Amino acid sequence: MQVINSIKELQKIISNLKHKGKIIGFVPTMGALHQGHLSLIRNSKKQCDVTVCSIFVNPTQFNDKDDYNKYPRNFDYDLKLLEQIQCDITFLPSEKEMYPEPDHREFEFGHIAELMEGAHRPGHFNGVAQIVSKLFEAVPANKAFFGQKDFQQYVIIKDMVRQLSLDIEIIPCPIVREESGLAMSSRNERLSVSERKIAASISKILTWSKESYPQYTVPELKKAVIDKFSKIKELDLEYFEIVEDKNLELITNWNTNQKIVACIAIFCGNVRLIDNIVFNL
Ligand code: PAF
Repeated sequence: MQVINSIKELQKIISNLKHKGKIIGFVPTMGALHQGHLSLIRNSKKQCDVTVCSIFVNPTQFNDKDDYNKYPRNFDYDLKLLEQIQCDITFLPSEKEMYPEPDHREFEFGHIAELMEGAHRPGHFNGVAQIVSKLFEAVPANKAFFGQKDFQQYVIIKDMVRQLSLDIEIIPCPIVREESGLAMSSRNERLSVSERKIAASISKILTWSKESYPQYTVPELKKAVIDKFSKIKELDLEYFEIVEDKNLELITNWNTNQKIVACIAIFCGNVRLIDNIVFNL
């Protein structure tokens, strides 16, 4: 596996590979790799000739400095995992390499960035769009792979690619869960053993909502879910929203020909977790 720190060097390597007709797959990450990331790499390896993974903890997408400082970083371990899974190239840039000067670009996503994560983490998606657009320039891949746990991020990135007319295909990959059902996340590392057990209720309640939804109206279901979480004192629900998958319109009844996705953000102690479930697969 090649580990590259410079954008120029990486662009040269990718451009040579593309000239030879190779299909390039890209998996952007912030490190603290887990099975969820590894499944993205596996997907890329299946669909592409060469897989590039980037590791960069992007400061501009954290609206909370403390969250940024506490974000788990273990680059040596990450590189070992990537080596084991036979990732071809890892891009490990410095902050100066990605932001030689401050990025003042303001993206306009409208409604899709105004609810859920957008409402609770002001500036988050602008920071995501800044870094992902820079990463797509550094890694001019054919396909980029994103986990569906960050479902709203996936919708935003697709819109960014459309707005900037980028020639890259965005491939969504299913959520990978721990045995308990807890969605894999780098933040899970910050949960204590007991918190980890309690956090498993998130996916259990989401699964209950998927199985029960036709028996309720939308407001009734939302209330039932909120009630269930209010009984678990260790969990502090931030939002539970039910949206259409393409445009993230909040739904008011079940009559839609789009996929319905129930999305949640919740605090377990001081760790903020997100998850979602598709109702009508
Ligand atoms: O999903 C993530 O890990 C990050 O938001 C991403 C896409 C790597 C951008 O920093």
